[in-house]
Amino acid sequence: MYCQFYGFTKMPFGITSEPHFFFESASHREAYAAIEYGISQRKGVILITGEVGTGKTTLCKKLMDRLGRGVSASLVLNPYFSDRELLEAIVQDFGIATEKKSRLEIVQALNAFLIETHAQGGNAVIIIDEAQHLSARQLEQVRLLSNLETSDEKLLQVVLVGQPELLQKLAQYRLRQIRQRIFVKYQLMPLQEAEVHQYMDVRFQNVGKDDLAIDDKCYRIIYEFSRGVPRLINILCDRALLMGYVRDKSSLDETIWMDSIKEIV
Ligand SMILES: Nc1ncnc2c1ncn2[C@@H]1O[C@H](COP(=O)(O)OP(=O)(O)O)[C@@H](O)[C@H]1O
Ligand SMILES: [Mg+2]
Repeated sequence: MYCQFYGFTKMPFGITSEPHFFFESASHREAYAAIEYGISQRKGVILITGEVGTGKTTLCKKLMDRLGRGVSASLVLNPYFSDRELLEAIVQDFGIATEKKSRLEIVQALNAFLIETHAQGGNAVIIIDEAQHLSARQLEQVRLLSNLETSDEKLLQVVLVGQPELLQKLAQYRLRQIRQRIFVKYQLMPLQEAEVHQYMDVRFQNVGKDDLAIDDKCYRIIYEFSRGVPRLINILCDRALLMGYVRDKSSLDETIWMDSIKEIV
């Protein structure tokens, strides 16, 4: 609604995560490097944790785009499934049909697919977002899949992505086997203060407006409110833009940012 007022081609801080809004923060870059290393070295289980709103789902989607052609990838975004449904969700992206198949048959089909992929010099990876919701049984199921191997190499790499509770879950004694399979671990961090400005600029540029007047002091306010968490930056920016529109101001001054924060918290 305020797009026209500011001359935006679309909402810069909408709730949907669009790939061209991607900003490669230092932490996102490191997370990606860690995952890429884990996959290429066939390290088995890779663990990525991060607080709510730091960009984990964004990272998963970016990863799907970026993995090279030799890597077959499967992305499970919402693992609130039964054990069978989880298995189905995992193999679906690999093009394995599951209808009228028993669990054993699905695993056998997966195994055949992995051996074939490996024989062609490829690699396969499953990425599970919101992995803190997996039950202990499902984590064990995932571990068993990641155990599929040729004589010397893991056929399937697993990237578990989740909130910090995932670490506590994995600390349970009965999950020690999967815990011991984790060789690469990374914690996704919020943006650094200096990155907030760049992050916002990427979005403004993408909606055709990179000369919106925002005073330097305001970035300090935005950082202090959000602590660099992208989702919080988005919520605040959206609110401030709306307020600027309502107040008929084309530049967003300190008062607007402070008043927007008061409305949010
Ligand atoms: N690196 C990034 N570049 C651009 N937008 C991002 C980035 N990281 C997060 N966001 C945005 O922040 C919001 C929260 O990100 P999301 O990936 O859903 O976080 P999480 O899954 O960790 O809760 C989304 O609107 C997303 O578009
Ligand atoms: Mg998420």
